[in-house]
Amino acid sequence: MTSTKIAVIGGSGIYDIDGLDGAEWVSVDSPWGAPSDQILTGTLDGVAMAFLPRHGRGHVHSPTTVPYRANIDALRRLGVTDVISVSACGSFREEMAPGDFVVVDQFIDRTFAREKSFFGTGCVAHVSVAHPTCPRLSQACITAATDTGINVHSSGTYLAMEGPQFSTLAESKMYRESLGADVIGMTNMPEAKLAREAELCYASVAMITDYDSWHPDHGEVDVTKIIETLMGNADKAGTMVARLPALLGADRAPCPHGCDRALEYAILTRPE
Ligand code: ADE
Repeated sequence: MTSTKIAVIGGSGIYDIDGLDGAEWVSVDSPWGAPSDQILTGTLDGVAMAFLPRHGRGHVHSPTTVPYRANIDALRRLGVTDVISVSACGSFREEMAPGDFVVVDQFIDRTFAREKSFFGTGCVAHVSVAHPTCPRLSQACITAATDTGINVHSSGTYLAMEGPQFSTLAESKMYRESLGADVIGMTNMPEAKLAREAELCYASVAMITDYDSWHPDHGEVDVTKIIETLMGNADKAGTMVARLPALLGADRAPCPHGCDRALEYAILTRPE
């Protein structure tokens, strides 16, 4: 058994979490550069917690410039075991409505201007991301959201786009009809891949703010409307997060899905 330490990476509209005992913003150095911000640490129901605002307090990092490698590395250095991403997304499905949450279980990575791996020259590794999220952690998020009355969808495919502009109408239709994506956002990749390389359990809770641009009865996406929906979503996300320590517990067995052993057969470079 090891001790659980739950990290929440908060997206647009979520720059803080309430109710941590012994709350303290700490600076964590990483050889991959500076993380997005200091990390808020403390405990909730006796379980160690960490919170990192993905875009920084004051929203200073765009989806492209978020230092994804430094963020994941800093969380690992803090002793985090479980990472929960909470982020805004658009929906490609009528039944996945603004205000609903989706616990994502698959990704289509269409980002192209980001560093995506801790490995490269000197040490080469190929981890599996066939199942990019942790089913155990995802289930805890589904239960936490259900318990708090949130309309939650227990699976969905998230298309990660580069941004920062939203999709064109043609792209939106292609993602929905040809690629079969359910939701769209700009930040979950390469974050999920890096969490796997760092052997951290990762779950993604995508909070729907809009119907992107495909929906004939809804206008184009704009940031003002997104922020309006986000404000309600952010409160719900806080309530959901507050349930997680009780569900996950302070002690932790090895991940039944092997997230914490992802590198076991992944490294090709001969040890020196
Ligand atoms: N984040 C929130 N809504 C989005 C959308 N429609 N496209 C990309 N990212 C988003």
